[in-house]
Amino acid sequence: MGDISRGAIATTPLLELDHVRKSFGGGALRRHEVVALDDVSLDLPADRPVIAAIAGESGSGKSTLAHLILGLLSPTGGEVRYRGRSVGSLLRNDGLAFRHQIQAIFQDPADVFNPFYRVDHVFDMLLGRFHLAPSRAAGWELVRNALRSVGLDPAVTLGRYAHELSGGQAQRLMIARALLLRPSLIVADEPVSMVDASLRAAILETLLQLKEKLGVSILYITHDLATAYQVSDEIFILYRGRIVERGSTRSVIDAPVHPYTRLLISSVPEPDPDVRWQERQADAEDEPSDGGLARSLEGTAAR
Ligand SMILES: Nc1ncnc2c1ncn2[C@@H]1O[C@H](COP(=O)(O)OP(=O)(O)OP(=O)(O)O)[C@@H](O)[C@H]1O
Ligand SMILES: [Mg+2]
Repeated sequence: MGDISRGAIATTPLLELDHVRKSFGGGALRRHEVVALDDVSLDLPADRPVIAAIAGESGSGKSTLAHLILGLLSPTGGEVRYRGRSVGSLLRNDGLAFRHQIQAIFQDPADVFNPFYRVDHVFDMLLGRFHLAPSRAAGWELVRNALRSVGLDPAVTLGRYAHELSGGQAQRLMIARALLLRPSLIVADEPVSMVDASLRAAILETLLQLKEKLGVSILYITHDLATAYQVSDEIFILYRGRIVERGSTRSVIDAPVHPYTRLLISSVPEPDPDVRWQERQADAEDEPSDGGLARSLEGTAAR
């Protein structure tokens, strides 16, 4: 995997955005230019897994950020680097390794699962493309493990079409797909905004387990500070394409400094703003841990 393998120098960040700017349109006079991101810098460490949240309202530039990191868009200015190398040059010279190490989970699983194929097709393509196992049979065993580790029954899930799955099942399938590749980084763009509350908790728990058990770092993109508070270690508040506040999630949400952060917090629908976050945290800690999930993730990690 060349020099983007996991053994690269520990002080080089896993991911770095260095004064990144992205504008759309504009033309010669820049009259119609939309600046989606402006002077955005951030990094994630390579020596330990973290969940970093990018939070902001609709249109603040969150998905643009995700697309730049995944190399689906190129920055207008600045640079996005993965393990010290620009994503643009990585994609040109080491594309397969890059596509192996960074995975995406999007809001809508329909983006990944083609309605004309059974869901197996996606896994089949991955097995072929990335040579994940010495044989097809061994590969499908990995797929079944990945499905089990997100709480899906392989016997029920494989062989179906995406529209035959519930939204939550499809979203878990997408996580299983990301997981199969054992990535170093998952970019999750609003992964739970289309699922109901009970499932949301389970999916967020899965993300936490990916970090804890498999050491995967996650960029968790959301407009919802409550879920960011539940899963992330650090947070970046994005407002009109700029990062206006950053820090440990706890410190930023418990004592926000920027007025926009305060506004975002006050828009979380909870009756009592003073006890809200502490209670939420206490609730999260009281929840029984998902031992089954933890065990099956350990099984995957042992590969
Ligand atoms: N391909 C594009 N062409 C022109 N403008 C774009 C394009 N993609 C995004 N934009 C603009 O860039 C800004 C940021 O969009 P982006 O999709 O990144 O926001 P977001 O934070 O993900 O919003 P949401 O929460 O609604 O998903 C918006 O003003 C959007 O209209
Ligand atoms: Mg978006």
